[in-house]
Amino acid sequence: MRKNFPDRKNRVTVRVPGTSANCGPGFDCLGLATTIYNYLDLTLIRSDKVVVEASGEGAEKIPRGRKNLAWQAVKKLLEVTGHNEFKGAIIRMKNHVPLSRGLGSSSTAIVAGLTAANEIVGSPLNRDELLKLATELEGHPDNVAPAIFGNFTVSVMDGGEVQTFSFRPRIKLKLVVAVPEFELSTRLARKVLPKKVSRADAIFNISRASMLVAALVEGREELLPLAFDDAIHQPYRKKLVPGMTEVFDAARKAGALGAAISGAGSCLIAFTSAKRGHEDEIAAAMVEAFKAHGVESKALILNVDTRGAQVMHK
Ligand code: HSE
Repeated sequence: MRKNFPDRKNRVTVRVPGTSANCGPGFDCLGLATTIYNYLDLTLIRSDKVVVEASGEGAEKIPRGRKNLAWQAVKKLLEVTGHNEFKGAIIRMKNHVPLSRGLGSSSTAIVAGLTAANEIVGSPLNRDELLKLATELEGHPDNVAPAIFGNFTVSVMDGGEVQTFSFRPRIKLKLVVAVPEFELSTRLARKVLPKKVSRADAIFNISRASMLVAALVEGREELLPLAFDDAIHQPYRKKLVPGMTEVFDAARKAGALGAAISGAGSCLIAFTSAKRGHEDEIAAAMVEAFKAHGVESKALILNVDTRGAQVMHK
């Protein structure tokens, strides 16, 4: 351990993007980072005390003290890197990502805690190593990978190990997200899924997920209308998101290339491009279609974040 370590600055602020997992057919493996951000200011302290302050989206629901997810991530990073001189932390969270809506809010907390603690202790871990820890904490890689790397990500689990390919799409995607007022727990949204899928449904998804990645890598926008559909999770989650199919149809009718549940929901996300446009019309159509099913929602128009988790240098 460095002798002069106690003199280091023990405080840092990080910014982490909200994410959208699955992107339709890429269940548990595709994800993208969006331009909506959570901020976390971390001070590591030597006393055995954890203080959490939160403001913004869902602030009242965020656990304070040792149950806080960002603290769990900080603790993990300190354990793995052997920095047991720090026993506690002061954590200030400023959140813009809606909570429990399928925009990766829990991943932002995990990635922010890991990134901030890693920075304070001198960056012993690289982004691949942070991804490994984040995946262990989150249970699956499809939100934490884009939160760390930004852009569009393809993640593969091999045993317990994760490997991610992150790339910047050659199409300037525009994301229209309808955020309903109700929350949906990932646990419930996973419980409704069948344990097995048919070969036909597997082929349906493999072909579309492959087409989606190929079209984004090569900039072939004309192939995208085929590429956002899914047969292995959305049909089962439909009952948890009133109006899902109608909101998808409304988005397409208003000009979207396709639409999907964002992560495990409850948000629905439609995709268009800067060239194609119609973001405002798509947003209005989605909100209206939700309303027709008794669901109030607000729309966000976002871009793909290209940077991932960032340490904010003043
Ligand atoms: N791939 C996961 C799911 C995302 O759809 O259940 C949850 O954040």
